[in-house]
Amino acid sequence: MVDFSQARLSGAPAARFEVDVHDCEITGSIPKSLDGALYRMHLDWLYPPANLDETILAADGYISSFRVKDGRAHYKGRYVQTERYLRQMEAGRQLYGYYRNPYTDDPSVRDVAHPGARTTANTTPVILAGKLYATKEDGLPYEIDPVTLATKGQQSFGAQWDSETFTAHPKVDPLTGQTFAYGYEAQGLCSRDVFVCCFDRDGRITRKWRFQAPHTSMLHDMWLTQEHLVIPGGGTITDLEWLKAGKMHWGWDSTRPSWHAVIPRNGGDEDIRFFFGPERSIVHTANARTERNKIVLEGPAANGNTWPWFKDIRGAPYSAPANTFRRLTLDLDSKDGVAEEVLFDTPITSFTRIDERCLTLPYRYAYVQYADARFDSGGRLGRTDGNCVGRLDLHTSTLTAFFPGPARALHEPVFIPASPTSPEGEGYLLAAGDNLEQATTELYLIEALSMRELARITLPFRSTPQVHGTWASPDTLPLR
Ligand SMILES: [Fe+2]
Repeated sequence: MVDFSQARLSGAPAARFEVDVHDCEITGSIPKSLDGALYRMHLDWLYPPANLDETILAADGYISSFRVKDGRAHYKGRYVQTERYLRQMEAGRQLYGYYRNPYTDDPSVRDVAHPGARTTANTTPVILAGKLYATKEDGLPYEIDPVTLATKGQQSFGAQWDSETFTAHPKVDPLTGQTFAYGYEAQGLCSRDVFVCCFDRDGRITRKWRFQAPHTSMLHDMWLTQEHLVIPGGGTITDLEWLKAGKMHWGWDSTRPSWHAVIPRNGGDEDIRFFFGPERSIVHTANARTERNKIVLEGPAANGNTWPWFKDIRGAPYSAPANTFRRLTLDLDSKDGVAEEVLFDTPITSFTRIDERCLTLPYRYAYVQYADARFDSGGRLGRTDGNCVGRLDLHTSTLTAFFPGPARALHEPVFIPASPTSPEGEGYLLAAGDNLEQATTELYLIEALSMRELARITLPFRSTPQVHGTWASPDTLPLR
């Protein structure tokens, strides 16, 4: 018997159905020229979590698509059929314990030596060399059929890929088509080992690096410039003894500095350097560039722990520090040190995107999800739920909001250029929002330069929370 009553009270998302919606309900108008698919990864417990204080990050992976063509949209949603999903389906119950702690798993599936086998693949739809993957940083990705959303199997990238894990945030150089990716805890649970590599546009690994992190930390995202990769770490720490004692994978140590591993794209392992800064959460990045002897890193950052599930190791209460959009500068002529400047002091979440054609290059706009207190959300949202998506203009230091109406909790927006040669920012944002009063999910098509709504697609149900989304055009994935 499945009993979600307690898990629901603790906020565990569980829709637990797969779905096809042909010809979705649309208000407004989708330009006929818009042709592609929006893939989104969701958190959707197949069975209730084993522990009621479990993080939402441990929920089963679920992928959905809005196929947009000829002014219409068709929706599809499927579980990612991970090994974990299949084992649970076979057993008819939850078999897995705490987030990234295989010691707490049922003996029938416990495999401490291969923690990547228990990944939920729930974080980002990633396109690499013409294939679609469901990724999560604690394991290797699962390939997904871009039309049917059927799971095709776990990808190991051959003998060249030498890590148990694969990041959910690889970066693509728009000038060369190269993809840069990494895996951390690469040699097993809690290891300091980080594996980094470069794929060419055909998916062949052409360059590899390896380093030992100053301390094992959650390494969720990275920055890429034309000359460097920068991977930030910080206050999330772990300890194999904690895992053996049945605790969660991460705790927060406020005395740990943030650190930045700087990897020269044309250098070797011996050229990797570390720069240390104050206590920070740096979860997602926006854009970066190398300017002569300086590396300029931009994106959201927060002073302290932004993960409510990961407790302070000294028992300090959780304070939910806000992210603000910042510029961090690393001076390559100095031995150490990170200079920090707040570019926008409006509290935002860490979910930030740009026009990805501008990655590593000069850029003007960043797109964010945030709670804007100027809008009446109808009393249905929490303090940190995003009621808006916004466009940060780094040239004019202005924030332009898109507010879809009361009682909508928005997710991260995705930018789509109007055409491959359109100037930066000329195109569309797609952002999903959950309508809490009508228990539906809406997808907003927004003209990115004006931040005005062009169309609203309404699903006849509320989907489970989105993590990240990715837009694919027919020239990047085989779409039908
Ligand atoms: Fe992420």
